[in-house]
Amino acid sequence: MNPRIFADAAELGQEAAELTAKACAEAIAARGSFHLVLAGGNTPRVCYEHLSGMPLDWSRVHIWFGDERCVPVGHEDRNDRMADEVLLSHVTITPSHIHRMPAELGPEEGAARYAAELAAAPVMDMMRFDMIHLGMGEDGHTASLFPGHATLSDARLAVPVFNSPKPPPERVSMGLSVLNTARQKLILAAGAGKREALARIEGGEKLPVAMIEDALWLLDRAAAGAVEDS
Ligand code: 6PG
Repeated sequence: MNPRIFADAAELGQEAAELTAKACAEAIAARGSFHLVLAGGNTPRVCYEHLSGMPLDWSRVHIWFGDERCVPVGHEDRNDRMADEVLLSHVTITPSHIHRMPAELGPEEGAARYAAELAAAPVMDMMRFDMIHLGMGEDGHTASLFPGHATLSDARLAVPVFNSPKPPPERVSMGLSVLNTARQKLILAAGAGKREALARIEGGEKLPVAMIEDALWLLDRAAAGAVEDS
């Protein structure tokens, strides 16, 4: 895992924003655009607040979502609602560059439509996003890929999720194949509630978040607990 450990979630979020801005500049210089996949949950909020004030070339940025909850558009529980509030409503980004998951259509239809959008996206020619942000749940889930769920072996680009143990029960998630082929993957985990899952992963358990290969783990000290500073 070899994590980078920060004093608190604020420092973690600031570093995640700086790494993202650097990846953005490099991707635009190399390929003319930056395709970034955002995470849901609370931990990335600080990162997105920082990013909203950074001088990125937003006209060349595309935003995607790693997972979405099956609730109506604009619902306060949606992952894109947080992104809208702290980031997307503060920057000059082309509306057609924001690739929301149509999870309001339900898991099957939402996943099928997002998979089609992904398959048609230029960035997917090589199946590679420039950067993916991911969170980690207390049970070791990431995006909406939960322990023991069939989604973990589902090869589709976007997968329908039923019976999520974290509400709401119905969701849409990017599949592992897409997440794993990204150029850079940041896993953001903060708070003491994450310690147990991290200890299980350190012990060799293949929880869903541990199936993300070559990720850069950013932890705060509360989450890291016994994990040694590196
Ligand atoms: C969601 C997220 C989920 C989240 C983790 C961590 O829909 O809830 O996609 O995967 O990232 O549960 O969430 P926190 O950062 O809030 O702990």
